Amino acid sequence: MGWVDAIRDHGNLLFIHLRDVRGIVQVVFDPKVSKKSYEVATDLREEDVVQVRGNVAIREKETENPYLETGTIEVYATDLEILSKAKPLPFQISEKAMVFGEELKSSPENVDEELRMRFRYLDLRRPSRQSILLKRDRIVHSARESLRSRHFVEIETPFLTRSTPEGARDYLVPSRVHRGKFYALPQSPQLFKQLLMIGGMDRYFQIVRCFRDEDLRPNRQPEFTQLDLEASFIDEEFIYEVVEDVLAGMFAIGGISLERPFPRLTYEEAMNQYGTDRPDTRFGMRFREVTDIVSTTNYTIFRKVVEQGGVVKGFCVRGKADALSKNVLQNEYALKIVPSFGAKGMTWMKVMEGRLQSNIAQFFSPQEQERLMERFDAKEGDVLLMVADESKDLVNEVLGKLRLHVAERLGIIPEDTYAPLWVTQFPLFEMKEEQVSSQHHPFTQPEREDFDPENTEELLSLKSRAYDVVINGEELGGGSIRIHRMQTQKKIFKALGLNDQEAEAKFGFFLKALEYGTPPHGGLALGMDRVVSMILATESIREVIAFPKNRRAYCPLTQAPAKVDKAQLEELGIITTSEQAEVDMGPGSGEAERPAEKPKRHEPRITKEDVLHVAKLARLKIPEHELDSYAKDLNAILDYVETLADLDTDQVPPTSHVLPMKNVWREDKARPPAETEPVLKEAPERMDDYFKVPRILET
Ligand code: AMO
Repeated sequence: MGWVDAIRDHGNLLFIHLRDVRGIVQVVFDPKVSKKSYEVATDLREEDVVQVRGNVAIREKETENPYLETGTIEVYATDLEILSKAKPLPFQISEKAMVFGEELKSSPENVDEELRMRFRYLDLRRPSRQSILLKRDRIVHSARESLRSRHFVEIETPFLTRSTPEGARDYLVPSRVHRGKFYALPQSPQLFKQLLMIGGMDRYFQIVRCFRDEDLRPNRQPEFTQLDLEASFIDEEFIYEVVEDVLAGMFAIGGISLERPFPRLTYEEAMNQYGTDRPDTRFGMRFREVTDIVSTTNYTIFRKVVEQGGVVKGFCVRGKADALSKNVLQNEYALKIVPSFGAKGMTWMKVMEGRLQSNIAQFFSPQEQERLMERFDAKEGDVLLMVADESKDLVNEVLGKLRLHVAERLGIIPEDTYAPLWVTQFPLFEMKEEQVSSQHHPFTQPEREDFDPENTEELLSLKSRAYDVVINGEELGGGSIRIHRMQTQKKIFKALGLNDQEAEAKFGFFLKALEYGTPPHGGLALGMDRVVSMILATESIREVIAFPKNRRAYCPLTQAPAKVDKAQLEELGIITTSEQAEVDMGPGSGEAERPAEKPKRHEPRITKEDVLHVAKLARLKIPEHELDSYAKDLNAILDYVETLADLDTDQVPPTSHVLPMKNVWREDKARPPAETEPVLKEAPERMDDYFKVPRILET
């Protein structure tokens, strides 16, 4: 039993590909084997669900299909039942060619993603999409096994709860019973897992949905899955070992081996060497500081920056002097790209004929040039890119973006390489909107506890015992060792500007728990969608989620979020004060993603040559004198289409099929069937009562 994936009618034989989640097999309907089945089969359409009985036969060598795992056999049907019919499809589902040499069929990339999401259940019938979910299942299973073997226990925590501080907005759920009050969906199970530690469940994990109302990107969803874990009486080393083991197991499912132990970089090293806290270490191009070398140079831009206490840093692009022309370096990078990253400019130099060459190289003394080459370990054919600014943070940030831009442009990043690392010792606090705020969350253990909570400068220089695991420039997970003493927690709240009442109002239940004997503990959460997406190399995490939301947090399949009944709102005590509260979030109101601007039609229009070309593809013979009139008609159609260009079709759903396909006799043109013999007299070759024509497809 399964779906009809594809059909091929050979006149006297009918072939189908029968598909289910485990694979495809070819079924042959031969009237000589079963006339009845053959006749029923002539009515089959793609995606009908059928039940077939038959005999398995070995295929002849030349009819084997290397695209199928079952390509050496086929089933001769003795019995066929159509279990349910399928309507015409909004897009083709079949991905496998039936015949060797034939182009492979539809691929998801060729179908508009919004349409695929609206019909996700059809999209999921494709073997390539099913394979993603099957592998995700194996990856999740591997993580579970690995944690359970270390005595971690899987425990569920509530969804209807209070706000957890992870830095995004909360999704709120109104309470009917407690009028005017709201639950918050958890941004993570952070507080509950810590309460479990206080509750003595000293090794916890959960594969858990988290909810965050934040700006979406290809690697962010409003609801996503974490592999969340926490343990007591442990330190960072324990977490690193467990997580490396879990990750290595999961990546192995995708045939990727991760080298262990993962290298480690402190936050400061990562920022100084790569300009980001999630460096892509698959390739070099690490930054070098040259402030000391250029402090007295004649090149005024550098000298002035140094005089004002700034820094000059850069990196070396090995052997790319030819690929990076003077025009690209000066007019694109120095004048446009780097300023768009926020710096004033960029200085470049190439190593050619043993010395530095550029538009400004003459301002550097031979000694300075030599020291620069030494600092960057620059060789013939290398390119040096440098940025100077009073702010070291800005220089790092801009160089970080430039490094990635150049590497991507020049294809420097090796594919099929996986470079994991730990980033450690994050700052405990950062300034946000002129307020000291936690960089991770307020329960993170500071590196030392003897700080003054009122000294902003000291607070900003404090490090935390937080860590992130990064692979290929993507943050896959993060966590920390937590505060387990009340005095420290109180100090942190004080530093954050929360007084006792405010802290009590926000986290009172948690603070109370801390006072009853809290074990030292820590943990981490992996973003499972990101992990799976990286292992399976999908374009976005949406592909590894069964029913994802689009980039505007909208679900094209269920059309959620949607308007609710007034009565429901009243029951919840949510009074609609204005029309605004009733904004319909459905597709009719423009919430679905808008397609890009419609492309404008370009000249030239259809010529006689175009008509000939199309005729050739369609195997039509069009006499010379008719070419002009075909071209004229086709151009008239295009003219008409152009008048539709301003028609607003943004909210019109794409048509699945223009018309349901059905063959009918045209009453007006119906003629009595001709006698067989006179018609066949013209046949170049005949077989029984049929014309014999050359094969179109070579099998
Ligand atoms: P954090 O906020 O760093 O830590 O989240 C952990 C990991 O979850 C993934 N992630 C996301 N994935 C998809 N869509 C999103 N919107 C999204 N947001 C985050 C990332 C991230 O690294 N409670 C802490 C963990 C801890 O301290 O133990 C936490 O949630 O891969």
